Amino acid sequence: MALVNLQNVTYKYPLTKTPALQNINLQIKEGEFVAVVGANGAGKSTLCYTLAGFAPHFFKGEMSGSIEVAGKESSKSTLDEWVLNVGLAFQNPFNQISGAKYTVFEEIAFGLENIGVPRDEMKDRVNDALALTGITDLADRSPYSLSGGQQQRVALTSILVMQPKLLVLDEPTSQMDPIGTREVFSVIRKMAEGGMTVVMVEHKMEWIAQFADRVIALKDGSILLEGKPGEVLTSDVLAENGFGISRYTSTAREAKKQGLWKKEKLPVTLDEAVEGFKK
Ligand SMILES: Nc1ncnc2c1ncn2[C@@H]1O[C@H](COP(=O)(O)OP(=O)(O)OP(=O)(O)O)[C@@H](O)[C@H]1O
Ligand SMILES: [Mg+2]
Repeated sequence: MALVNLQNVTYKYPLTKTPALQNINLQIKEGEFVAVVGANGAGKSTLCYTLAGFAPHFFKGEMSGSIEVAGKESSKSTLDEWVLNVGLAFQNPFNQISGAKYTVFEEIAFGLENIGVPRDEMKDRVNDALALTGITDLADRSPYSLSGGQQQRVALTSILVMQPKLLVLDEPTSQMDPIGTREVFSVIRKMAEGGMTVVMVEHKMEWIAQFADRVIALKDGSILLEGKPGEVLTSDVLAENGFGISRYTSTAREAKKQGLWKKEKLPVTLDEAVEGFKK
């Protein structure tokens, strides 16, 4: 059975004319790692808010269709119930910081505190989560004193510590360098292998190609294309619709026109490109 089941989901923010999501049908298996791509305004964050229950429980607006996660229906649940199953890391990590805590450790413990986890268990879980995302050394720092990339790691950690069934990440590596990005993708892959279901908005095609199970391409609030990363990310449809494309894909596509790329399949990653350009 699918952990996530969206049927004909259409959502319009208050006081807007066109829906930000239109007729979305989406099923996601437990333990699946799904990446979401799309241009600015395509509806990626709105899809995240919908999965996380913020639309319509927080943003209000008009929602139709059915949103089911872990056997529960969004319209029949409160946001408090919903967040026990679904964790969302916001696009801007600054929005994640509670403002109520002085240290990263306390910040990460905050969610556990709210649901009444006993003190000893809480400490262990926070320490484990800090180690998992590689920020043990930030434990005593103020959340506000951190760089954007560090704040993103704190945001991710504060979600992971809650052990949600569904992890929703809105551009979680946007302020990270390649090393940070690789580490975060590895952690998320590991979580998915442990059974956590992951939906991640991301622009970094090469990383998606290496780590995600499936890609959903959103355009104007609708799913334009979905499938295996290697197929979706190299598709002409994406290129023609103004999506960000890996430089290796676009290089090979040009090379193909001149007979210099001989393989059927275009590359997404550097390794695939190097392999394909070898004689
Ligand atoms: N709070 C809001 N109220 C009204 N309209 C909104 C709100 N948030 C987003 N929108 C509109 O909904 C559409 C989808 O926006 P959304 O933020 O989901 O796109 P996105 O794909 O996440 O874009 P980006 O790449 O810029 O993050 C856009 O037309 C946007 O203007
Ligand atoms: Mg967004």
